[in-house]
Amino acid sequence: MDSPTNEELIARWQHEPAPLLPLLHAFHDRDEYLSTQAIEAVAAGLKIPVAELFATITFYHHFTREAPGQRAPRVCTGPICTLHDAHALQASLDGASTMPCAGRCDGPIPVLKGHEVLIGVHSDHLAAQPSPLPIPNPGNYEECVFAEIRAEGRSSLMGYRLSGGYEALQQAIAINPAELIELITASQLAGRGGAGFPTGAKWKAVAEAPNSPKTVVCNADEGEPGCFKDRTVLEHDPHAVIEGMLLAARATGSSRAFIYLRYEYPEICTILENALAEARAANLVGPAILGSDFSCEFYIRRGAGAYICGEEGSLLNSLEGKHPYPRNRPPFPVTHGFENLPTAVNNVETLASVPQIVRRGAEWYQSLGLDGRPGTKIISLSGDVQRPGNYEVPFGLPLKTLLYEWAGGPASDHSIQAVTMAGLSGGFLAGSDLDTPLDEPSIRQRGSMLGAGGIMVFDQSRDMVSVAHQAMEFFAEESCGKCFPCRIGTQRLAERLTGSTGPDNLETWKAELVDIGEVMKATSACGLGMAAPFITDSLLKYFPDQVAHRVQSQSEESK
Ligand SMILES: Cc1cc2nc3c(=O)[nH]c(=O)nc-3n(C[C@H](O)[C@H](O)[C@H](O)COP(=O)(O)O)c2cc1C
Ligand code: SF4
Repeated sequence: MDSPTNEELIARWQHEPAPLLPLLHAFHDRDEYLSTQAIEAVAAGLKIPVAELFATITFYHHFTREAPGQRAPRVCTGPICTLHDAHALQASLDGASTMPCAGRCDGPIPVLKGHEVLIGVHSDHLAAQPSPLPIPNPGNYEECVFAEIRAEGRSSLMGYRLSGGYEALQQAIAINPAELIELITASQLAGRGGAGFPTGAKWKAVAEAPNSPKTVVCNADEGEPGCFKDRTVLEHDPHAVIEGMLLAARATGSSRAFIYLRYEYPEICTILENALAEARAANLVGPAILGSDFSCEFYIRRGAGAYICGEEGSLLNSLEGKHPYPRNRPPFPVTHGFENLPTAVNNVETLASVPQIVRRGAEWYQSLGLDGRPGTKIISLSGDVQRPGNYEVPFGLPLKTLLYEWAGGPASDHSIQAVTMAGLSGGFLAGSDLDTPLDEPSIRQRGSMLGAGGIMVFDQSRDMVSVAHQAMEFFAEESCGKCFPCRIGTQRLAERLTGSTGPDNLETWKAELVDIGEVMKATSACGLGMAAPFITDSLLKYFPDQVAHRVQSQSEESK
């Protein structure tokens, strides 16, 4: 079959909602890179100034501008893959470049090649592999999101229905949207994408906001290093996410639903397309759902590689085809979201919890946590533990129980030196703070946060200053550059962590690190710049000896 012409591609996408990303992907897939002619054609077709479009395209990691383009391999060099010698793998692969954490920290190193994800540790043993089902929790605690995920055939519509799927949608259609919001509010479900905002309150705000059409957005960007839970949920339980989105749409009065999927999960895109086709054929999405007056159309939009696009304002700008800077707040997306209209942006895990809550009730969900804490959280655990993977824990489970009893602890003759929290955004926990229960307030008291629930483990053999340096380089690379405290602060902190810049005097060096971090926390415009100093603060708190050693050896070398 002949490749589509520029005109055909533009005609296919021009009148669709949120057309820029799929149109760029269509050109990128056809030619394997985005030529100047392609960019000019898209700019003319969508009436975007060429210079603006060029700036937007070059902001993303994965849109290539010359051959071999997307065929060239990209190797994950996130914090855990670095421990597995990802740089050596990259060096051994012809024409390979690096990419930030690709969300597969529970297995060997991922290599992205076109629409294929290969995994392995040696260049001659790379293969595509489905990811494992979540490990059943050894504590025998009742689960919510993973309760049915291991059921036979769960990812197909038939398998999903056999294990209770779409019952919640039927229940929700039979009741009034306000009752549905009350149920979710009573369950105390809060956002699992990092910020922990109460889901019921968010939906109420969208439902009550004037103007329409309203929109639901599933945030499947999952760019935080060390987080890979959303990938597992989407891969093995795509209908649970679709049903959660339908329930969000029903509650908020939304008629449009987008899934914003990170570029690094190409196989999940196919899984979602198939699941949506099944749901559409069964009258579960689209017009007059199950013969009711409720209609909702679904769209999948693939990102192109930018951590900041997980931040909801940035995600909405990206969907709208604008430069993906975070938006100033207020106004918030609940009143001024997609196309400036009311929008509920929710994380994959949040949405996948909803059908279970509707089926089993608010009290059931509340009762899942320990000592009166409501609900559960999926933790993506990786690094120096024997059984890395996704675990659904009751809120309040001691971190040490997860690390040692559930995940088998470190390799024999090793000990755990530190863990990161919230992927990288919560910095490190170490020493007696590893005793914390897993819940946001307890972890905040220790100067960190649980966030999206990525925990990376480092044993005593790891150089924590190097780990911190790599983390800060990630934030510096991913800072969108909109505000200077973060744009410059992340760079200065990364440079200082190499020990190659800053004063020779240790106390002055440390004071500068703290000072830069304080300014960033107080003045950054979004969570990236506010969170990055958690890395340096916790490094100074837990590892003063390693810091002193690094600064002193660096100053001796420079003499
Ligand atoms: C730098 C940054 C990156 C983020 N990345 C993600 C992400 O990948 N996925 C996600 O769901 N939320 C992410 N968030 C949080 C979103 O802005 C938003 O709070 C969330 O999607 C709301 O959904 P929830 O209420 O269900 O958690 C990020 C926030 C920041 C500041
Ligand atoms: S804090 Fe950083 S990532 Fe956020 S808007 Fe400012 S420059 Fe961009």
